[in-house]
Amino acid sequence: MAKKKVAILGATGMVGQRFIEALTDHPYFEVGALVASAKREGGRYEDTGRWKLASRLPEEVGKLALIAPDADKVAASGVRIAFSALPSDVAAGLERDLAAKGIAVFSNTASHRMDEDVPLLIPEVNHETIGMVENKKGFIVTNANCSTTGLAVPLKVIQPLGIRRVFVATYQAISGAGYPGVPSLDILANVIPYIGKEEEKMQIEVKKILGGYDPGSKTVKYADFEVHPSCVRVPAVDGHLEAVEVELTERRSEREIIELFEGFESPKEVRKLPTAPQKPVIYRREPDRPQHRYDVDAGEPCDRAWGMAVSVGRVRVMGNFVRFILLSHNTRRGAAPGSVLNAELAYSRGYL
Ligand SMILES: NC(=O)c1ccc[n+]([C@@H]2O[C@H](COP(=O)([O-])OP(=O)(O)OC[C@H]3O[C@@H](n4cnc5c(N)ncnc54)[C@H](OP(=O)(O)O)[C@@H]3O)[C@@H](O)[C@H]2O)c1
Repeated sequence: MAKKKVAILGATGMVGQRFIEALTDHPYFEVGALVASAKREGGRYEDTGRWKLASRLPEEVGKLALIAPDADKVAASGVRIAFSALPSDVAAGLERDLAAKGIAVFSNTASHRMDEDVPLLIPEVNHETIGMVENKKGFIVTNANCSTTGLAVPLKVIQPLGIRRVFVATYQAISGAGYPGVPSLDILANVIPYIGKEEEKMQIEVKKILGGYDPGSKTVKYADFEVHPSCVRVPAVDGHLEAVEVELTERRSEREIIELFEGFESPKEVRKLPTAPQKPVIYRREPDRPQHRYDVDAGEPCDRAWGMAVSVGRVRVMGNFVRFILLSHNTRRGAAPGSVLNAELAYSRGYL
């Protein structure tokens, strides 16, 4: 079957580049249009000098001319699917305009995550919410903020044990701030105990993702536990590490919780998708893992799903509280391939 042509909005940014990488030789999709800021309109992607990844920029993508963030121009390129990695203020109007033109938008930006008609989707966690866009021609599907994604996956695993409250402190990489991001004089040999709007996003997004879905009314419920985050920027390049403390409704053993993490599987229809990791959670039994250096790219098979697994370790129980450490790749699991996985789910259901 012919591959579906897609656009990447914000193609020159940190997440946009990961989209190009994730869509290289993809079995369902191929890149047909690239959007950046209006000042770049008409120039070839390869001439922007913005490719900052270790992997190779595919030649045919490098030769594409950039188009301005204009819904008519994106639609005129012939694509019916768009992956969005724009700043949220730019994305807000453009994503709605594209959906109104019959384009399926898979977005990384915060603009529409909390909209009632928009699924906030992590297929391993709440795959059934993709049903909200069934029979729609144009629509928006979002993935969560990058630190929310890393947290929501292991919380899904232990949710059947009964969650009362969640406390989390993050150690977030600089690529999470985009390119060029945080000035080097601010972050080299330093730690910054504040990331604008991040804590607010984690507080609410986790509740929308883990609250449940009613297929009859096509609405989501919000989880009834609170999340209390403290978000910190650290001088790692990629990967958000999080120290999590969850109050459960009753005491559970470390062994039981570790076995839950080790045995967790994606729903069947998600497992077979090209970008789905075989194991969405990888539990590390070593006392000093996960670490950014060794675990940030966890995820197999390693051609498409690398960086798509959430690594978890250091489970400790004190009374009703369980503590653990997680690490998740912010521009892979928490952004572009995560969004591609959402599109693969929609494709496999025949929604595209
Ligand atoms: N980085 C992460 O870990 C991460 C994770 C999840 C979600 N996100 C979200 O994903 C989005 C992109 O993040 P990023 O880290 O990739 O940012 P980035 O590196 O700063 O890239 C921003 C992209 O948007 C384009 N852009 C900027 N201003 C524009 C305008 N006025 N009109 C049209 N295009 C414009 C840029 O194009 P030019 O090169 O032409 O300026 C660039 O392609 C943000 O909403 C962010 O919150 C980021």
